[in-house]
Amino acid sequence: MAIYFDEQNKVINLQTPDTSYIIGIYDDKLPVHIHYGKRLEKTYGIFEMLDVPAEHANTCDVVSKDFSDGITLNTKLLELPTYGTGDYRMPAFHAQYEDGSTITKLYYTGHKIYDGKPGLENMPSSYVEDDSEAQTLELYLKDELTGLKAVLCYTVYNDRNVITRSNWFVNEGKAPVYLQRVYSGCIDFDSKEFDFVHFYGAWARERTMQRTPLINGLQSVDSSRGASSHHHNPFVCLASHHATEDTGDVYGMNLVYSGSFESGVYVDTYNKTRFFTGINPFDFEWKLDCGEMFRTPECVMVYSDEGFGKMSRTYHEFVRERICRGKYRDLERPVLINNWEATRFDFTEDKIVAIATKAKEMGVELMVLDDGWFGCRNDDFTSLGDWFPDPAKLPEGLGGMIERINALGMKFGLWFEPEMISEKSRLYEKHPDWCLHVKGRSRSEGRNQLILDYSREDVCDYIIDILSDIFEKNNIEYIKWDMNRNMTEIGSAVLPADRQRETAHRYMIGLYRVLGTLKKRFPHILMEGCSGGGGRFDLGMFCYFDQFWTSDDSDAVERQYIQTGTSYGYPTMVMGAHVSACPNHQTGRMTDITTRGHVALGGQFGYELDLATLSEEELKEVKHQIAICKEFNTVFHKGDMYRIKSPFESDMTVWEFVSKDQSTAIVEIFTLKGTPDSASESIVLKGLDPTAVYVERYSGRKYSGEALMYIGLKRTRPRDFRSELLILERE
Ligand code: GLA
Repeated sequence: MAIYFDEQNKVINLQTPDTSYIIGIYDDKLPVHIHYGKRLEKTYGIFEMLDVPAEHANTCDVVSKDFSDGITLNTKLLELPTYGTGDYRMPAFHAQYEDGSTITKLYYTGHKIYDGKPGLENMPSSYVEDDSEAQTLELYLKDELTGLKAVLCYTVYNDRNVITRSNWFVNEGKAPVYLQRVYSGCIDFDSKEFDFVHFYGAWARERTMQRTPLINGLQSVDSSRGASSHHHNPFVCLASHHATEDTGDVYGMNLVYSGSFESGVYVDTYNKTRFFTGINPFDFEWKLDCGEMFRTPECVMVYSDEGFGKMSRTYHEFVRERICRGKYRDLERPVLINNWEATRFDFTEDKIVAIATKAKEMGVELMVLDDGWFGCRNDDFTSLGDWFPDPAKLPEGLGGMIERINALGMKFGLWFEPEMISEKSRLYEKHPDWCLHVKGRSRSEGRNQLILDYSREDVCDYIIDILSDIFEKNNIEYIKWDMNRNMTEIGSAVLPADRQRETAHRYMIGLYRVLGTLKKRFPHILMEGCSGGGGRFDLGMFCYFDQFWTSDDSDAVERQYIQTGTSYGYPTMVMGAHVSACPNHQTGRMTDITTRGHVALGGQFGYELDLATLSEEELKEVKHQIAICKEFNTVFHKGDMYRIKSPFESDMTVWEFVSKDQSTAIVEIFTLKGTPDSASESIVLKGLDPTAVYVERYSGRKYSGEALMYIGLKRTRPRDFRSELLILERE
């Protein structure tokens, strides 16, 4: 049993294999948070560990009259903190009622525990394949005065250290309720002895790890861009100060959502910590009419008592197996080549076929035609929305192009940016009100384009129809779904004034409907997401996209930071990673083809250049890389990943991938900064079978698992940007 209710003590223990999340029902009314951490079997006497009796309360604190012994909410650890009744910390819920008041008292009315996991209707969420995999707790609360009902919904997986949560609100009152802050996750801790860990960035430098000790007050990351964004990722952690890759407590929280979010920590003056995540309350409001329900996005919580490594591996497995879905979830993906960095907008059908022909010779399996194939798009000023082939570039249409690629024995993939519209397009001429805009205001452009208003049903239906038509008529086996700008002048032509602040969230609901419909209709299409690189790299997207272009920065050195940062919350299987040309287009840096290949092998592998420009020697290496990819994809993508050395902490990056049966380990060693005459460093491996002997494929050297794990390999760093790939196979 994963969820256990101790009726006598009114305590609910949600157990994963190694963790417990314990909720108490205080005074039969108030859901309080008692513990999240190591697994507890028994819950006797647990309430006394939490209580701050009234006589110990601080004189400035307010005592609530709603409870038999008068408590101060300000010092309680709460499951759904609301505003206005004595808890002065940041609330997880805030709403305005018909009389203008903003006070909410949500008290316990009952609960239900059942096998399985419910879906969230219009929001994506993780899932179970069988009800026996997980148990769900629905905790029912009600505000008697307004009739607002809350359902706190927790799902616990039996065999994974994962707990998911979402909060639902039902208006059972007689007047509309205006929801203004509806976080998805909120965990109160009794101490502030943690570091806040988050992943900030920008275009071409996504997910830089940052770790800072908590301060009293608010620390948070957010996006108000209408996308999870390059700038901050919804995935955040709290880690004990001494936590390392292998030791210490680490709590991860991620949101299954792709829009504006806020994730952070609030530490009060008593050093109590509130850890939260959800839709960004800034500029958000949702009118909940009588009888209606609002479900927050889901948040995915992981606790590890063995540092960041175990937390990441728990997320990796969970994202691969219970967020990702569809035909490609369990399949290895084809090695692809994409023409963007080779040609930009300047290509012809013959040029694409030439790139594909050379690639096929090397063993590449999928040709992806990027931006520029439609309308009259020779630069980024025009044609988004006009999804019909440009006859100047594709004289025989898409069909003719695809036939030639298929005739080479390759699959064909195509780039789209279906959420966008260019002012210079037929679609805009016809429907100037189909973009997000505010009447009377000028429309700001990003990359010379506007955003279609996906909060509108008619716009979403149009996109579904037009893409379905293309997919039905053409043998397209992969799409790259791009999204290259963030929202401004957020407003919809079809929503009334008191619902305008719903636009950005309704947009996400519309987008998820479009993606879900297409995924269901065309299950054979491998879907890769993209947003100017990794600008919408989040769990919401992975409910639809099999993989995501991690960054527009394809430089082998920058990618070590980007892919390492990304790996804290996301598996290699979803990280698009390509070998591109040198000097690198983004940084101008020169790295050799071997290093570029090794970095890309640590993700979803492919090429982004014209292979015909490479030397014979380089082409030999390309063939070798593809052979490694084909032979060891399962180890790279479904094995356990260990960050042996992080570029954020050292001049070396070392990634280790170990197959689930410990028979094969691949070790990739990169030098970031060469230091002549450097002393050797130990590369101490992890996760191997200590009793086994491993043979390294290229050198033929033999090592015992225990020597590799307890002594380690020795390497110096004589030259910049060199790399080495070791294949260790159990004898
Ligand atoms: C974005 C993507 C690139 C490429 C271009 C095409 O920047 O991230 O990979 O597809 O758009 O315009």
